[in-house]
Amino acid sequence: MFRIDRNLTADDLDKALRADVIEGLSVEPKRLPPKWFYDERGSALFEEITGLPEYYPTRAERAILERHSQEIAEAADAVALVELGSGSGVKTRLLLDAMLGHGRLKRFVPVDVSGAFLASSAQRVAQDYPGLDVHAVVGDFEHHLGLLPVNEHEGPQMLAVLGSTIGNQEPDERAGFLRDVHATLDFGDSFLLGVDLVKDPARLVAAYDDAQGVTAEFNRNVLSVINHRLGGDFDPEGFDHVSRWDAEQEWIEMRLRSRTHQHVRVADLDLEVEFFPGEDMRTEISAKFRREGLTKELDTAGFTLTHWWTDPAGDFALCLSTAG
Ligand code: AVJ
Repeated sequence: MFRIDRNLTADDLDKALRADVIEGLSVEPKRLPPKWFYDERGSALFEEITGLPEYYPTRAERAILERHSQEIAEAADAVALVELGSGSGVKTRLLLDAMLGHGRLKRFVPVDVSGAFLASSAQRVAQDYPGLDVHAVVGDFEHHLGLLPVNEHEGPQMLAVLGSTIGNQEPDERAGFLRDVHATLDFGDSFLLGVDLVKDPARLVAAYDDAQGVTAEFNRNVLSVINHRLGGDFDPEGFDHVSRWDAEQEWIEMRLRSRTHQHVRVADLDLEVEFFPGEDMRTEISAKFRREGLTKELDTAGFTLTHWWTDPAGDFALCLSTAG
């Protein structure tokens, strides 16, 4: 069984991109939000990143799911899995298998901004899991949580946000997002959250600055996206890739550093911007977490953390909370 709801059109995304680029290139220091990395090439580069020797988070989270998905399924005892972001890969299937094995799962609701990706991957899940009701939703989960087909009172739900996706948000945005997730759920529903943990800064910096330069290409790709979609004339090679650990905020920052003095025009926005030699533009933050801090954040949003699993090295955590 498969259906797809579209809460977000190509036109909505276009407007959001324009607004983000105008705003981000007009402020000092300049910044661009990470969500625009993911065109077809950016998504392929991210896939490549997940297999790099330096980029441990994907492997670590998969190892946790391989070991503990049964416990997760038992604790959540859910009839529906709602997954925000991703939603097709090996990790999702480990969860679906465990939840179906546990015996109560009826419905899978994958949510993603990329309609094309979501349609094909959710359809594949529907084919491989006959009997599972797959209800895909194209939407921006930072804004459209209220539109999700949850709380249909058929039994407990589990909402999952894997891959440390939440790390892209700043602390105040994150607090708002966690409150929205809580508001979406009913009393007793479960929230499964995957987070990357604070560790040796050298390993963190390397995870975002791999030897093969794939992450650098991924970072520069945001400039190509602006060139293609908004008629920009960025020279991506005119920028160096920077991966930097902010010890105070406990997040990795990715930046693009202008090699020279350059003038860039974005024709569709009628925008001209200047970059000075050595000027940095922030393109992503990737927050890293500690158990104590995250427990408090979840608590503030109305959740009670009940389980905390890490990989053997303690690099990454999956935590399960109950909505109070
Ligand atoms: C998809 C946001 C979890 O922050 O680790 C990987 C994105 N950026 N390498 C992360 C990313 C550079 C990734 N998230």
